[in-house]
Amino acid sequence: MLPNADNTLFAWMCDIRRSLHRLPELAYHEHQTSALIARELDNLGIPYQQGLAGGTGIRAEIGSEKGNAPCVALRADMDALPIVEETGLPFSSGRPGLMHACGHDGHVAMLLGAAKLLRDMELAGKVVLFFQPAEESGNGAAAMIADQALSGVEMIFSAHIDTHYPVGQITVDEGLICSFTDPFTITIHGSGGHAARPHEAVDSVVVACNLVMNMQTLVSRQINPNQPAVVTVGRIEAGTVHNVIAEHAILEGTVRSAHRETRERVLQGLERVILGAADMCNAEIKLKFFDSLPAVVNDVWATSLARKAALAVVGQEGVCSQGQPSLGGEDFSFYQQQVPGCMVRIGGCRQDRTAGPAHSARFDFDEELLRYGAVWFAEVASSSLENMIYSR
Ligand code: NI
Repeated sequence: MLPNADNTLFAWMCDIRRSLHRLPELAYHEHQTSALIARELDNLGIPYQQGLAGGTGIRAEIGSEKGNAPCVALRADMDALPIVEETGLPFSSGRPGLMHACGHDGHVAMLLGAAKLLRDMELAGKVVLFFQPAEESGNGAAAMIADQALSGVEMIFSAHIDTHYPVGQITVDEGLICSFTDPFTITIHGSGGHAARPHEAVDSVVVACNLVMNMQTLVSRQINPNQPAVVTVGRIEAGTVHNVIAEHAILEGTVRSAHRETRERVLQGLERVILGAADMCNAEIKLKFFDSLPAVVNDVWATSLARKAALAVVGQEGVCSQGQPSLGGEDFSFYQQQVPGCMVRIGGCRQDRTAGPAHSARFDFDEELLRYGAVWFAEVASSSLENMIYSR
């Protein structure tokens, strides 16, 4: 029978979501978030391990250990973003400059909701819950794996809130759904001088501008237009005052791509653009990649189980496809490199449609989605365990 998120459970999840929304914490600093989750797990009588992945990660366990019972994991991420909130919500961020702008507050709430449902169900094996730090930056999933969080786990599922879809829709897609992500920093070393005498200096601002413009031709001229890719420079820093030529400049950006060959081409192209600019401008330029993420590739079997659970929760009319792969990155991909897994998107567009998109200062979602998220999590875990026993 399908688990049921009644009004009491729903109100409890909303409370948790709002408490977390008031207390956004950045990657690897989710201390109060982690403490709140531990308190709720204590109240539910669910055993857990704390202090994983740099200190804030939690791994909880529900169900039997017996024999060779199967084991599946469910994952929620819990970090916030450095954004000044402008939603005007009564439970807005209490920490200036920080905001839950990607729905991770909701992810934690719905996984705790699922925990409560699963605790009261008859399970054919064990369900492990991951409350993971640092999804937005820092690759918290890899840190969870390094701390043996996947030990015994045979399959893993996750769900991301997505306000492109209304409440009651769940997207389920096999194969690649989130792209390769390669963040980078470029450091330019020129030489400073008087604004009126450029011939005595190497102007880092001009080098930076050159680089940014040339990088844009990588995607438009060197990549198969049928294979999506993006190069974005999100931050430039240079100079101190209007009449001094800047000696240094720093660029921060990210490469996104949905195919392995495309990724290689863009990364190699970036190296060439930098070599060219360095040569042309007589500057020293260094390129460094950090926190690269593999693509999220949903496993065939795990996806079929995720779809079955979604059909049970939202029916035929509620299950849909996200269409093209997203050029967003997700460190859920690290788990999928170890065990088969599937990530779905839970629709949650607010009915008044006045909220902003994810990662914006006005992001918000319809809390009604928490019911669907919690029930889908519980259903996919319990039905997968049964399916796994059956196929042994
Ligand atoms: Ni997110």
